[in-house]
Amino acid sequence: MDRSDAWQHTTVLLAEAIDSLLTTPDGVYVDGTFGRGGHSRALLARLSPRGRLIALDRDPQAVAAAAPITDPRFSIHHSRFGALAETLESLGVARIDGLLLDLGVSSPQIDDAARGFSFRFDGPLDMRMDPTRGESAAEFLARADERHIAEVIRDHGEERFAVPIAKALVARREGGNPVRTTRELSEVVARAVKTREGGQDPATRTFQGLRIHVNAELEELEQGLKAALTLLKPAGRLVVISFHSLEDRIVKSFIARESRTEVDRRAPFAPERPHRLRALARVKPGAAEVQANPRARSAVMRVAERTELA
Ligand SMILES: C[S@@+](CC[C@H](N)C(=O)[O-])C[C@H]1O[C@@H](n2cnc3c(N)ncnc32)[C@H](O)[C@@H]1O
Repeated sequence: MDRSDAWQHTTVLLAEAIDSLLTTPDGVYVDGTFGRGGHSRALLARLSPRGRLIALDRDPQAVAAAAPITDPRFSIHHSRFGALAETLESLGVARIDGLLLDLGVSSPQIDDAARGFSFRFDGPLDMRMDPTRGESAAEFLARADERHIAEVIRDHGEERFAVPIAKALVARREGGNPVRTTRELSEVVARAVKTREGGQDPATRTFQGLRIHVNAELEELEQGLKAALTLLKPAGRLVVISFHSLEDRIVKSFIARESRTEVDRRAPFAPERPHRLRALARVKPGAAEVQANPRARSAVMRVAERTELA
């Protein structure tokens, strides 16, 4: 078994996502977050011989895990869904019938101590989904000023104690001992966080904030959603599974904004900007799925359909 297959990922909302995404078995679909291919395999099983599935993942280990899929209707690409338009253009694909984004990190990423995503294991403080580019969490904490660190932890981690945590991190760095590992970060945070939330490790929010920042997750989401508008054919589907409120808020307001017919108040006689999406559903995993897979607990899936207009 190769290292990338050493950990399993249990796909969330598998049947619900595929039922929502698939409008025609002859269509062209994009799985923007291949992971370990749970959604991709289920979709392939429902496509006709004329259908096509283009999968993306920014993690080289996820891309490697797709090697056993030799189905000629399938291709995998090491790319970000934030660069979806460019990736599809390079493949000569102009329009698609559906886009699936199953956001966040996979279990194989979290469970590998060497990736530095989890406070449960000690490892280098990396947190990049794509370790071939960009800055690791340790590199960010080694150079950013206190205010920037506090903003990341507060805004992306929704952590009340972001300022004392940032102060403690900078004081430690100025003492010549910057945090380099997940354990060191957890220890600094545990000392700075004064009240623990029931059942939650004090480092949970700080890790979330740094991970979102290091991977520019919210910017990626905004770019991916924007690309969907131009790429989806009329009646094509956008299916997004979020795992925390910051992501879901972006998806929800994007769909709401694009579902409204807008009149330009400064130019009341100009043609109305027609709505480009129709919201179809908001789906939460059922009790049985949450019991079988606790990671599903916080999942919310939103489904929208591209309209004929504009
Ligand atoms: C929750 S997992 C997806 C699991 C997958 N649906 C399955 O069933 O196995 C999320 C995956 O998306 C990838 N990912 C996250 N953000 C990405 C982005 N902006 N572009 C491409 N891949 C991304 C991660 O590397 C991870 O492998």
